[in-house]
Amino acid sequence: MNIPPHIILSIESSCDDTSVSIVRGSEVLTNIVATQSIHTEFGGVVPELASRAHQSNIVPTIILAIKEAGIRVDEIDAVAYTNGPGLSGSLLVGSSFAKSWAWSKQIPAIPVNHMRAHILAHFLKPDPSPVFPFLCLTVSGGHTQIVRVNSPSEMLLLGTTLDDAAGEAFDKVAKLVGLDYPGGPLIDKYASVGDSNAFVFSGSKIEGLNFSFSGLKTQVLRFLEKIMPSNPNFFNVNNGKNLNDFCASVQLSIISMLMEKLCLAVEHTGIKEIAIAGGVSANTCLRDALKQKEKDDNWVIHIPPLSLCTDNAAMVGITGVFDFEEGGRGELNDVPSPRLPDLNIACL
Ligand code: KG4
Ligand code: ZN
Repeated sequence: MNIPPHIILSIESSCDDTSVSIVRGSEVLTNIVATQSIHTEFGGVVPELASRAHQSNIVPTIILAIKEAGIRVDEIDAVAYTNGPGLSGSLLVGSSFAKSWAWSKQIPAIPVNHMRAHILAHFLKPDPSPVFPFLCLTVSGGHTQIVRVNSPSEMLLLGTTLDDAAGEAFDKVAKLVGLDYPGGPLIDKYASVGDSNAFVFSGSKIEGLNFSFSGLKTQVLRFLEKIMPSNPNFFNVNNGKNLNDFCASVQLSIISMLMEKLCLAVEHTGIKEIAIAGGVSANTCLRDALKQKEKDDNWVIHIPPLSLCTDNAAMVGITGVFDFEEGGRGELNDVPSPRLPDLNIACL
């Protein structure tokens, strides 16, 4: 695919990462992520602390990005920024900064949907881009979606979560057993030496292509209520074997739910070109399951490097490149939309 070499400064501040990138077409010149560690002690993102941290991070991150990219400021064609969905205060910091910068330099400011940006990250180098149409499974701490992608601007939401996101399910279950936030990577780590058949967590069964993860959290709560009073050291005995087995069983349950719906989407659409996005795409069990489908059913799998899967500004930048080329421009009085409807990613 021919991607024009527009130079875009981009800002992502939808949750707890302040990220600034500069891309030249599909080439990432720099992609800096200032991660906010302050939330760890609270076991989840605290919105007010996140927006304050964005305020202190944004200027130094912009300065560093421009320095690292090795370009002149007057070479920047436009500023792209996440305008939703996300946390209201966090979005406000990035969008206000982006629009002010663009206004002062007399260049366009381009508002970008975060979920669409996760998908278009697949068009950044170095990996080969997916071929249209493809299916994208976006699995993060805030979202779980299966989208049919016909072009950079034509996307159709096939399935979404009715309650918690997949990453949120990992994080909430991890918190219940006293693991730090974010719990997903820790569950993945302990699961690697655990027995996934030791315990059975079946999750909720939902018709069609939508997901539901809240039932799993309830099942885990009931499990703990049954076990812990008579065995308070359950997770500490046997050199942590119970914790490893528990993590492997929970992980299998979440990934089975994701794979079941993805297989159904492939069956319904006949599309075997599959892209994966979002932080949960780092999960070993999910990656193994996808590799297996590649082998058994000829799926073509696209998983970008982790730095482009998790929240980052380069994905906002490449979306800005496509929109700038198509004449997409924002207004100075655009306001971010924390609940930007999921279907806004579809231009149908
Ligand atoms: O995309 P992301 O960085 O941020 C957003 O939520 O938008 O995703 C973060 C999520 C967290 O819920 C985290 O627990 C999960 O991704 N995650 C994982 C793994 N690495 C990160 N979940 C399962 N296994 C992992 N290896
Ligand atoms: Zn995200």
